[in-house]
Order: sequence, then structure tokens, then C-alpha cells
Amino acid sequence: MSVTHTLETDVLRHQDPAMAELLLAELERQSATLQLIAAENFCSPAVLAALGSAFANKYAEGYPGARHHGGCEIVDVAERAAVDRAKALFGAEHANVQAHSGSSAVLAAYATLLRPGDTVLALGLSHGGHLTHGSPANFSGRWFDFVGYGVDAESGLIDHDQVRHLARNHRPKAIVCGSIAYPRHIDYAFFREVADEVGAYLIADAAHPIGLVAGGAAPSPVPYADIVCATTHKVLRGPRGGMILCGAELAERVDRAVFPFTQGGAQMHTIAAKAVAFGEAATPAFSAYAHQVVANARVLAGHLAAEGLVVTTGGTDTHLITADPSPLGVDGRTARGRLLAAGLVLDCCVLPHGDGRGLRLGTAAVTTQGMGEPEMVRIAALLAAVLRGATEPAAAREEVRALTGQFPPYPG
Ligand SMILES: Cc1ncc(COP(=O)(O)O)c(C=O)c1O
Repeated sequence: MSVTHTLETDVLRHQDPAMAELLLAELERQSATLQLIAAENFCSPAVLAALGSAFANKYAEGYPGARHHGGCEIVDVAERAAVDRAKALFGAEHANVQAHSGSSAVLAAYATLLRPGDTVLALGLSHGGHLTHGSPANFSGRWFDFVGYGVDAESGLIDHDQVRHLARNHRPKAIVCGSIAYPRHIDYAFFREVADEVGAYLIADAAHPIGLVAGGAAPSPVPYADIVCATTHKVLRGPRGGMILCGAELAERVDRAVFPFTQGGAQMHTIAAKAVAFGEAATPAFSAYAHQVVANARVLAGHLAAEGLVVTTGGTDTHLITADPSPLGVDGRTARGRLLAAGLVLDCCVLPHGDGRGLRLGTAAVTTQGMGEPEMVRIAALLAAVLRGATEPAAAREEVRALTGQFPPYPG
């Protein structure tokens, strides 16, 4: 099924051509430029079909078998399927698939385990922590007392000595491990050990690597963390949304923390789409995809380093790369703008221990398109040529168009 075809024949074109034009323009933008934002991916036409289904009409406060609305007998089956598939995929005793987003999942995890004013140890925001890990602009920083650990200045790796030291000194109620920009595997066994030593809960915010975990390409936090928070839309390739995994003993508390404590009605179309994505992620094809994502990221990181960018931690274990472009004569913000003009879409990120901004990129989307190592080599060369000023953005855009034309995200 082609997404373009669906849209062309859809009533939207007749009823609201202005909005239909925007949808088509966005599809064209996604198809004709390189999506290197580490948090993005192309979900399948089947996932999109579930999102655009009649499930979007259904109100379903509560949980299967215990809803506050009538007529939930069919969506109940769908939610049970999503939960069962998530449990099987991640080997978890319990899954909550109602969290509207990764942030909602983290909020529910805190609501399950913490009280306002509690101390929480998490990766500092300037070292790659997420807003929900203690930003003053976020509920987390307002309601909890966050202490930040960091990454080592030399290696860029999480400073385990500092984590242990801060945990012993501050005796946090919970320790959070997870990041928006850390390219390496997290040592969940280490965090469990520290949490046990100081009597803290361990929350793994695996929003980024959870798709790699599903595909067997990254270690799982499930055996170690009291609660695992995740998103379903990154490498996992599902709809935009959140998910929580935990043991049976916290199941009821987690469910109540999602509904009714922090959310209202479940979004059944998204939950159905999550179920579809979990089904896809359980296949050998997805496992091959997850391993290719990492292989591509390693090649991309290696070639970016060879081009002169300083790749944080010297490489990657995951889909995600962070790099300092300043040796090529540009800071992160300028680099992002120049690359956008060239059709390479990526993010800036903080550079721990540095002054400027770096670049954050990932291989989830381009790998879904079918690109492999040869294309990563091309992308690294093009990116560096644009940053050096050796290739004009307009010329680079043509090359990007030629490349993406060979690997359409939605062929057909
Ligand atoms: C580590 C981490 N936690 C939480 C989130 C929040 O997810 P969402 O944007 O769905 O709220 C993200 C999103 O990138 C993330 O990377």
C-alpha cells in the first residue's frame, strides 16, 4: 500500500485541499531529504492505517474489562493484544501501553515511585539528560530535587565513580539511567548495583534504545530496572507514543499512575498502532533491521571521524551519533542550518564539557529506507563537504535527491 496513493484517493483532497496539500508536502519533504534525526523513523503503512482508523473515534477511559465508557468490547481486545505483544517482545511481566508519550511515561513512573520533594539522581541535562530528568522548565525539575551525574571529560562515557559517589552522598529515592544523546550501551547491571546499595529505585528511560532492545541489538534494561520507560516511535518504528514495562508487583500502581493520575482516555488508534508495531518488531526481519541500524551508525561515525569531526566517545554502540563539527570551522548551530539547506535533516545537541553545540544524528530512518554501509559512506562525505564549504548546499541537495530517489521510504 502506498501512502501517497491512499492520500490521493482520500476524501481529504476533496474536503480540505489545503490540509491535503500540506500532508503531501510533508511526505515529499520526508522522502526527498535525508532524515537523520536520531529520534525519528518511518513507520509502516500498516501502522499508519491503524492510526487513521475508526479507533480514533473511541473513548476508552480505564483498562480492558474495567472501562468508564460503553462499547469498548472491541478496543479491549486490541489493548490486550498490545499489552501481550509488548510483554512477549521485552520479556516483561507487565506492560502499560497507554502513556501518550515518552514524557508521560516518565511522569507516570515518578508518580508511581516518588513523592514531591524526593531526591532523584539522573544524567545532568548538559550531559545528555532529557527534560524529564530534572529540567527547571519541566515538571520534573519543579517537583523533585534532581542531582545530576555526568560523563567523563576524556572518554565521554558515563562516570560510574561519580554515580556511585553521588548516590552514597545524596541517598536518592530513585536513580534514572537513560539519555537523549548517549551513543553507548548503558550498563544497567551497574546502575542496579548502585541503586541496591543506597536503597533507591532504578528507572531506565530507554526511549532511544528500546527498538534496538526489541531487535536484540542492545542490552535490555528489563531484568534490572524497577520501571522501564520508553517511546514507541524511534528505532521501534511504531506510532508516536509511550510505554511502561515493570514487574508484576508494580503493575497496579503503574497503571493507576497513568490513568487516572496523569492521563484521561486512552488513545485507542495509537494503541492499535503500537500493537501492529510490536508485531512487526517480533519478526526476524526487524531483528535484521535493528542490527543494520547499528552497523550503519558505526560506519557513519567512523567516516565522520575520518572527515575530521570529533565523534563523542569515539564511536557508537547504537543508532545514535553525537559529534563536534568545530574542527571543520563551523559550530553546531551553523552546521545544522547549512546541512538543512543541503537536505540533511539532523539536530544540535549539548557537548558535555564543551562550550559550543554539537550535532546529533541517527540511522533509524535511513536504514528503514534500505540504505546500507555504502550509503553511509556517501552521507558522511557529503555532510563533511557541505560543512567545509566544498559543496554548495544546492548541489548537495541534488545529490540527496538522487540518493533518496533510490530508497523511497514508501515505495509503490
Ligand atoms: C530519553 C528520553 N526520555 C523521554 C523522551 C520524551 O519522549 P516524548 O517526546 O515522546 O515525550 C525522549 C524523547 O526523545 C527521550 O529521548
